[in-house]
Amino acid sequence: MKKIAVFTSGGDAPGMNACIRSVVRSALHMGLDVYGIKYGYDGMIRGEIFKMDSFSVSMIVQTGGTILKSARSEEFRTKQGRQKAFENLQEHGIEGLVAIGGDGTFTGANIFYEQYGIPVVGCPGTIDNDLYGSDYTIGFDTAVNTALSAIDKIRDTAASHDRVFFIEVMGRHSGYIAIQCAIGGGAEEVMVPETSTTVEDVIDKLNQDRQNKKTSSIVVVAENGDQGSAQEIADKVKSHTKNLDIKVTNLGHIQRGGGPTAFDRTLASRLGLAAVEGLVNGEKNVMAGAIDNKITYTNLKLAISKSKPLNQELVRLTDILSK
Ligand code: F6P
Repeated sequence: MKKIAVFTSGGDAPGMNACIRSVVRSALHMGLDVYGIKYGYDGMIRGEIFKMDSFSVSMIVQTGGTILKSARSEEFRTKQGRQKAFENLQEHGIEGLVAIGGDGTFTGANIFYEQYGIPVVGCPGTIDNDLYGSDYTIGFDTAVNTALSAIDKIRDTAASHDRVFFIEVMGRHSGYIAIQCAIGGGAEEVMVPETSTTVEDVIDKLNQDRQNKKTSSIVVVAENGDQGSAQEIADKVKSHTKNLDIKVTNLGHIQRGGGPTAFDRTLASRLGLAAVEGLVNGEKNVMAGAIDNKITYTNLKLAISKSKPLNQELVRLTDILSK
C-alpha cells in the first residue's frame, strides 16, 4: 500500500483534528502518500481530494471541529454516487481509506468496501460513545466535560431560586453522555433511552426530594427517550404539580464544539496510528478501537450492528448518589 486517504464524516466531534493529524503523520512516518478528502463522502463524490503533508496538520491537535469539514451525504447512499466516489479515488491511485466518524460513516464505509473492495479502517469519532468495539469514542469525554461545565452553572442558579431544571443532552439513541453528566453533576434524576424511568417516577422523586428538604433539583434528560424531550417531560410534570418552579435548558450543539480534552487527544492520536498500521498490515473492513486500554480491530459490520449497552454500574451509582 502506497497511497491512503483520510476523511471525516457525520456529526463532528472534538478530537477529530487530533486524529487527522495522527493519520497524516503516521502515514508519512511509514513512507506512504496521504490525501485528505473534504466534506466526507460528498467530497469523495465531488473529487475534493488533495495531498497532505506534515505541515498541513500543524497546530490542530488542540482544536475542535474538523479541518477536513464534514457532511451527512445523501448521494453516497446511491449506486451512482458511490461509483463516482470510486472513480475519483482511482484517479488519485488511492488504495486505502481511514474513515473518522460514527455509525452512519461506517455503514457507508462497509457498503463501499463490499462493493469495491477498497480497504478501510474506521476511527470512532462521535460524541455519542455508541459504537461497539471501543470503550470510548473520540469526542465523548470532551462533550461530557462541556455539558458538565454548563450543568455546574445551571446548578448555581437552580439553587439560588429553588428551581427544578430539566437539562437535555445529546447522545442520539445512547444514554452515555446523560449518565456521566448525571453522576458528575450530582443530578437528582436521569432519564436515558436504555432505562424505563417514567414521568410519574420523576414526579415521585421530585416530591420525595422536597420532603427530604432538597430545595432545587437537576434532571438530566437524554435526547430521543420514549418519554419525550426535556421540554415535553417538563410540561407534563408542570401539569401534575403545583409547587415546583420548573425551567428547561437544551444544551444542544455546544456539546459538539471546543478543544478536545487530554483524554480525547490521546485516544484520537492512538487510534489514528492504529488505523494506518491496520491498513499497512492488511486490515480491510474494520474499526480501530481501544478496549481495556488496548488497541483492537472490530469488523465494521459488528461495530455498527451490535449495540453497546449502558454500563449498569453507572445506572446503579446514579440512583444511589441522587438521594
Ligand atoms: O451523532 C452526534 C450527534 O451530535 C447526536 O448526539 C445528535 O443526535 C446528532 O448528532 C445531531 O445531528 P445534527 O448536527 O445533524 O443535527
